[in-house]
Amino acid sequence: MKNFINIRDISSKDLKKIILDAKKRKNKRKKSNVLELDKDSPLKGKMLIQMFEKSSLRTRLSFYLAIKQLGGSALTLRSDELHLSKGSESIADTAKILSTFGNAFMLRTDSDKKLEEFKKHMVIPIINGLSPSSHPSQVLSDVFTIEEIKKKPISKLQICWIGDGNNNVINSLIEASVKFSFKLNIGCPKKYAPNKKLINWSKKNKGKIKIFNDVKQATIGSDVLFTDKVISMNDKVNKSKKLKDFNKFKVNSKVMSFLKPNGIFLHCLPRGSEVSNEVFLGKQSKVWQQALNRVYVQKSILLYCFGKLR
Ligand code: CP
Ligand code: NVA
Repeated sequence: MKNFINIRDISSKDLKKIILDAKKRKNKRKKSNVLELDKDSPLKGKMLIQMFEKSSLRTRLSFYLAIKQLGGSALTLRSDELHLSKGSESIADTAKILSTFGNAFMLRTDSDKKLEEFKKHMVIPIINGLSPSSHPSQVLSDVFTIEEIKKKPISKLQICWIGDGNNNVINSLIEASVKFSFKLNIGCPKKYAPNKKLINWSKKNKGKIKIFNDVKQATIGSDVLFTDKVISMNDKVNKSKKLKDFNKFKVNSKVMSFLKPNGIFLHCLPRGSEVSNEVFLGKQSKVWQQALNRVYVQKSILLYCFGKLR
């Protein structure tokens, strides 16, 4: 049994195995309907319990389909209907019950501490479906999408990120850049620089990360451009002030022109005003393929957690 909480805690070998398995499974499903099971149904009889303390569309749907296609089933709990949310049951007891009734637990939470506390008490795998500090299933899926589109290992590509330098998605992207050994340029306002601890960790682990406070410098010659909402779900900031601070960090056609000629645009969604409609709906944008690929990668993440990766 394995947990999937942060990319930095998982070996490069296992992460690459997850990507490879997702590729194989996706290839085999070219003609399958969405609810048709994979022939081997490796998670037959297993139940994934998922719980969201924050909104979700893609993560909810993709984990649901992932476990279904693997032959299992999913139950989605509303966190506000649990005794836990009212403070009348402990995490320890809740975790014990989840572990007795289900076979894996996927949690989207507003507290990294809570995730750790659940982990301490669970005897079934726990998966991080987004926390304030990381969004590992998203970023692993994005690595898959990039390799699928570019038809080469991500280690041979230059990736750039324009936007908040210190949110859950960029944190996981920094961790992925070390684990998959790819060049990562981060373009953000000075005030919104990446997490120092994480950057030090990346330096110690041969990370190839460069930080710029200028969009052009960060973007030029890149194969892939990522961005994300300026205001994340957990952001307790002065929103209008923060949005203003990012005025020079919007992704438009001019910014896209700094990429390599066949450069692509990715966004985990939902989007805000950080990207123009023209770019988001344009030819270089691969956001719909990116979103759907979450299903394939969640499946291999589940198999990793269940110790069933081929
Ligand atoms: N990208 C992503 O995690 O989307 P949701 O918040 O809709 O799950
Ligand atoms: N950084 C965003 C990601 C949403 C999927 C947030 O946390 O709101």
